[in-house]
Amino acid sequence: MENKTELPQIVEIKQIVTETPDIKTFYFDYHLESKPGQFVMLWLPGVDEVPMSVALDTNNQFALTIYARGDATKKICKLKEGDKLGIRGPYGTMFNYKEGEHLALVGGGYGTPPLYFLTHEALKKECKIDFLIGAHTKEKLLYLKTLQGLEGVNLHIATTDGSLGEKGHITDNLENFLQENKPDRIMTCGPELLMKKVGEIGDKLNIQTQISVERYMKCGFGVCGQCTLDPLGIRTCVSGPVMSSKVLNMLDEFGQYTRDAQGKKQYFNNPNKK
Ligand SMILES: Cc1cc2nc3c(=O)[nH]c(=O)nc-3n(C[C@H](O)[C@H](O)[C@H](O)COP(=O)(O)OP(=O)(O)OC[C@H]3O[C@@H](n4cnc5c(N)ncnc54)[C@H](O)[C@@H]3O)c2cc1C
Ligand code: FES
Repeated sequence: MENKTELPQIVEIKQIVTETPDIKTFYFDYHLESKPGQFVMLWLPGVDEVPMSVALDTNNQFALTIYARGDATKKICKLKEGDKLGIRGPYGTMFNYKEGEHLALVGGGYGTPPLYFLTHEALKKECKIDFLIGAHTKEKLLYLKTLQGLEGVNLHIATTDGSLGEKGHITDNLENFLQENKPDRIMTCGPELLMKKVGEIGDKLNIQTQISVERYMKCGFGVCGQCTLDPLGIRTCVSGPVMSSKVLNMLDEFGQYTRDAQGKKQYFNNPNKK
């Protein structure tokens, strides 16, 4: 999709919904024209500009669901309705599916926003949706009430502490579930090790799997080279964030490490390894 401009557009926060103690959804009246899976660069002047997946986009309103994680996101989560932010985009690739297909969506933690948007759009195309959602506790499950009320969506929940749904990880019974239900496609967004596992299961069962990859982004449109994946140098902001599991599982970096703002490797399983 062609971007309207690379300059930030100033948008006003119309509504804020508190999802969990540290996650809020911000609604903006703006014709973004994004597709599920795409992201915007969100600018808080004087602080930072950070990538955020689009969580919902109707004709004249879009939403972002933001986890108050560090400096920029904590400050954004303190803003009030009527405050203004800058956005660039939409950028990146989108989830692909066809009318009437059966989709299995696997989301973990604050990775759920693009899958939430996808759910709304796919229902318009009469897709059947199994939404498998996992979090540490029931308080950290996003959009629960809305998802429970959506006709055409079968919700499956797992929490690590067992406070709602199955006790454990959403991937624990995934292989059996997929074998029994045989979806046309799998889409996943969440912690990278979760997505890696989902991709491996999808590849093993020969079900097309689309993964939304998160890498440190600066420009968001392919110029700075910050978001590349080793060893091929694939730029996540233009060839992703949504990529095929077949491609990702061939890359050394996926599921092993990411890079910080300085380009230093940060290993998922061993933060002290250099
Ligand atoms: C395509 C994409 C979509 C995303 N969608 C969402 C979303 O819907 N909701 C949400 O809450 N978060 C989302 N994120 C993550 C979000 O960008 C980071 O949480 C945010 O940038 C943290 O910034 P900070 O200043 O609050 O934290 P900091 O303290 O600066 O950083 C905390 C951690 O956030 C990550 N981070 C910081 N800056 C960036 C950056 N420019 N690009 C990528 N990661 C960064 C790093 O892992 C860092 O260790 C997405 C990231 C990407 C790449
Ligand atoms: S963020 Fe600059 S090339 Fe991807």
